[in-house]
Amino acid sequence: MNLNINAQSVTVDADPAMPLLWLLRDTLNLTGTKFGCGVAACGACTVHVDGRAARACVLPLSVVAGAKIRTIEALGTADKPHALQLAWIAEQVPQCGYCQSGMLMAAAALLEAKPHPSDADIDAAMTNICRCGTYQRVRAAIHRAAGAAA
Ligand code: FES
Ligand code: FES
Repeated sequence: MNLNINAQSVTVDADPAMPLLWLLRDTLNLTGTKFGCGVAACGACTVHVDGRAARACVLPLSVVAGAKIRTIEALGTADKPHALQLAWIAEQVPQCGYCQSGMLMAAAALLEAKPHPSDADIDAAMTNICRCGTYQRVRAAIHRAAGAAA
């Protein structure tokens, strides 16, 4: 099966029913995407599929074959961070950090769809769960990144 992950063509010999998250973490060693609940409830495993936020723990490979998949590893680099990553640092968003790659991918999909989201837009799009309660800082960082892009 052929997949497009982070702008690279990847050929894998895997069960088409296997969730994308398993392939990312266990086969491709792209461990920035996290496992939390496994039932599409927490958002720790959020990636982009054709530019939209999607929860990789419930996405069978057969569903994403042919789609453009983007993971946190391709959001930015140390030399060229994404505006959200800079805003995350400025707002000191992470606490334990476990949910944060999923938060960033959800936020990136939001800003690509809506470059200047309102609080209501953010609340509607950011349904990820953070056990450390970083929600207010996440919101502030999204506004900061949106302002930087203005
Ligand atoms: S691990 Fe996928 S939504 Fe929780
Ligand atoms: S920063 Fe700890 S779970 Fe979100």
